[in-house]
Amino acid sequence: MAKVRLKNVFKVFGKVEAVKNFNLDIGDGEFVILVGPSGCGKTTTLRSIAGLEEVTSGEIYIGDRLVNDVPPKNRDIAMVFQNYALYPHMNVYKNMSFGLRLRKIPRPEIDKIVRRTADLLGIGELLDRKPKELSGGQRQRVALGRAIVRDPHVFLFDEPLSNLDAKLRITMRAELLDLHQRLKTTSIYVTHDQLEAMTMADRIVVMNEGIIQQVDIPQKVYDHPVNRYVAGFIGSPSMNFLPCKVVKGNGDLYAVNKSYRLRIPQDKTKFLTDYIGKEVILGIRPEHINAKDAVIRKYDPKSIFQASIWVVEPLGSEKLAHIKSGKHILVTRLDPHIDLKPGDEAEFVVKMDFIHIFDKETEKTIF
Ligand SMILES: Nc1ncnc2c1ncn2[C@@H]1O[C@H](COP(=O)(O)OP(=O)(O)O)[C@@H](O)[C@H]1O
Ligand SMILES: [Mg+2]
Repeated sequence: MAKVRLKNVFKVFGKVEAVKNFNLDIGDGEFVILVGPSGCGKTTTLRSIAGLEEVTSGEIYIGDRLVNDVPPKNRDIAMVFQNYALYPHMNVYKNMSFGLRLRKIPRPEIDKIVRRTADLLGIGELLDRKPKELSGGQRQRVALGRAIVRDPHVFLFDEPLSNLDAKLRITMRAELLDLHQRLKTTSIYVTHDQLEAMTMADRIVVMNEGIIQQVDIPQKVYDHPVNRYVAGFIGSPSMNFLPCKVVKGNGDLYAVNKSYRLRIPQDKTKFLTDYIGKEVILGIRPEHINAKDAVIRKYDPKSIFQASIWVVEPLGSEKLAHIKSGKHILVTRLDPHIDLKPGDEAEFVVKMDFIHIFDKETEKTIF
């Protein structure tokens, strides 16, 4: 096991700045996930740690060792790729033992390690099969097994679950976590899937256009996104964003546009003193909007707005409603048994204690 440190790392391909000033300290045994849209520099960062890319500038440490000039095979890492990269002509046993054989480890020792790891992954029965005789999930386990037998200081995962169907992905997510709890090997995992990041990571690193946006534990990123980008990227359905003006009235502040006039909670008004009379962006998560008729707790009568139901998506455990208010469409997460259908008019209540306000120019979070 080892900690990993990236210091001021840049990677430029010709005119493309793939990774810009990446700084991150990963703790020994930590499971860190880099998440962001396609092209944001995740794979490049991972390949730089592996030594498969040479960084343009900056330093990479594995343990206390500066590894910029250390070739990949001496970095003591094991990488699991999205396409598994198994050798098609070798059976599972040979695929898993390949690296160990290269390292001239005695046969009986190799045999013990491979069988133990195969049992750990539930593929002990498949050792004689070729990759083409395996399902996607089984192949993924072999690729994992091949990484585990090397007993590396660091695991690097590049979208390892992307080729699996949705159900298997959920199972493998749990299995990977279980594995991590047992092996406790420092892991750096890359995905474009925010749900995977939320559910698996000790800490999430949200990236956009080669730049780290936010690093924190998943719930913190969800509850306190640092800017509009992170707020919109983490969470599904996405946070609703509404242009508003901050307006003063009777000692209170309101977020106002043509369709809404929502009272800002007293304890938040101090953050808005410089924004009175100005345009801001109001952010509301779908679960913080409810149909008024379904609200039983106390609510501020000045947190209500009127909307018409546009589309309803029943998901069994909940119902997503896309609702129209003026020219704005918002998504709300409702009780599955609520009786609302397209065309209905209804009143909705916003849980104002959970709203976010973003600066319109910088898109940074005000609160
Ligand atoms: N070998 C390469 N040559 C030129 N551009 C590259 C190369 N590898 C990646 N890029 C570019 O760098 C950016 C980041 O790519 P990548 O790290 O693969 O993103 P991600 O893994 O987040 O989808 C993209 O704009 C991509 O086109
Ligand atoms: Mg990638």
